Amino acid sequence: MTGREENPTGDGELLLVGVGFMGRPYVAAAKRLGLRVRAVEAHDWAHMIEHLVDEVVPSQGKYGALDELWAETVHAAVEARRPTGIFGFTESHVLGAALAQDRAGLPGPSFQAAVISRNKALQRGRFRTHGIGQPEFLLTDDVAAPAAAEWAGTRLPVVLKPLSSAGSDGVELAPDAAAFAAAAARRASERPILVEQAVEGPEYSWEALVRDGEVWFANVTAKTTTGAPHFVELEHRAAAPLPPADAERVAALGRAVLDAIGMRTGIVHLEFRLTSEGPAVMEVAVRTPGDYIMELCSLTYGIDWFEMVVRLAVGAELPAPPEGPVRHAASLFVVSDPGEVVALDGLDEVRAHPAVVDAAFRVSVGDTVGRTSSSLQRTAYAVLAADSAEELEEAIAFTRRTLSIKTVPAATEE
Ligand SMILES: Nc1ncnc2c1ncn2[C@@H]1O[C@H](COP(=O)(O)OP(=O)(O)O)[C@@H](O)[C@H]1O
Ligand SMILES: [Mg+2]
Repeated sequence: MTGREENPTGDGELLLVGVGFMGRPYVAAAKRLGLRVRAVEAHDWAHMIEHLVDEVVPSQGKYGALDELWAETVHAAVEARRPTGIFGFTESHVLGAALAQDRAGLPGPSFQAAVISRNKALQRGRFRTHGIGQPEFLLTDDVAAPAAAEWAGTRLPVVLKPLSSAGSDGVELAPDAAAFAAAAARRASERPILVEQAVEGPEYSWEALVRDGEVWFANVTAKTTTGAPHFVELEHRAAAPLPPADAERVAALGRAVLDAIGMRTGIVHLEFRLTSEGPAVMEVAVRTPGDYIMELCSLTYGIDWFEMVVRLAVGAELPAPPEGPVRHAASLFVVSDPGEVVALDGLDEVRAHPAVVDAAFRVSVGDTVGRTSSSLQRTAYAVLAADSAEELEEAIAFTRRTLSIKTVPAATEE
């Protein structure tokens, strides 16, 4: 049943855990492959995807949280009817999907890869044993204790972060001892917490389509962020050009991480910095990368990455891997000064640009924009693709200067 048929036929079914907006291309790909799509979806999202799929199974789970409730619904759905493949769309779905894949003997990242993906402290422990480059770290259930200050004191600057969040939420740089003491006091009740030495170097991610532990195809994305203290992501460029020695180091890092987490089949998103001592892993996840990176990969290589992931999930054949990039693609995000949004301009002009594939504001006039501390506060985005790197950079610059989100400091909010 789980063999690799040449063409999955109409009697095959994909159980897709989580669709939302960003998961819709998985539905389209599955339909193209002739698969029935049953979706496990959050209660408050279910009505928005009903018309897209063959069946919706509502879950009490929430995006980014309540993994256990997602898992309960997935398990019940598989007990009711065994699908051809199961795929967990994002972070909070990975555990439930992996439990079900394991039990039903269906392809997936593996139960341990999913558990490790969901917990940054498990990643740190695992990578240390496997000799994988990463920052020094302290896992503590008492960040306000003198021992934590002592550890951090000899390693400043350090980064504090929760074990299971995303979008830089709760990630914070403490540049000196006073900043660490303040952060530790503020976050004293957060148990456990990870403290890491802050490492320096440009940031990248590595997206790999993996079958039975072997890389079928991988891409390297260059990333820019707002930098310290909160590192909110601003730009991603797929098919990042790396000197051959670095490219080989990254490929070796990817293989070592797959081995360390026991990765079997699916998509892997690995984030790292290239430091003067080699790559240092930030985190790994066995789920769909965010920030339109899947779209960038599809545009860059001329294959639908969503379809490849569906093929992996149902055990279908893969085509020959792409030979290399055919275009240049990037996503960009705008952060704005905190305050009330009073004007939004330039979107039509941006959308009319030939390199702009998609662009939108994420706020409306009258909204209040908070201080940017996570991806959620970003106020606009664009996805771009061009035939040359130069044209892409020109389009990025054009988009940045044309998209305008005017805010004024919010009135009397002392
Ligand atoms: N130890 C570190 N050294 C330097 N920068 C870090 C470190 N840890 C996190 N960062 C920065 O914070 C960002 C978010 O951290 P990450 O661990 O990836 O959490 P999230 O799950 O929120 O994305 C990273 O992309 C990086 O820019
Ligand atoms: Mg990250």
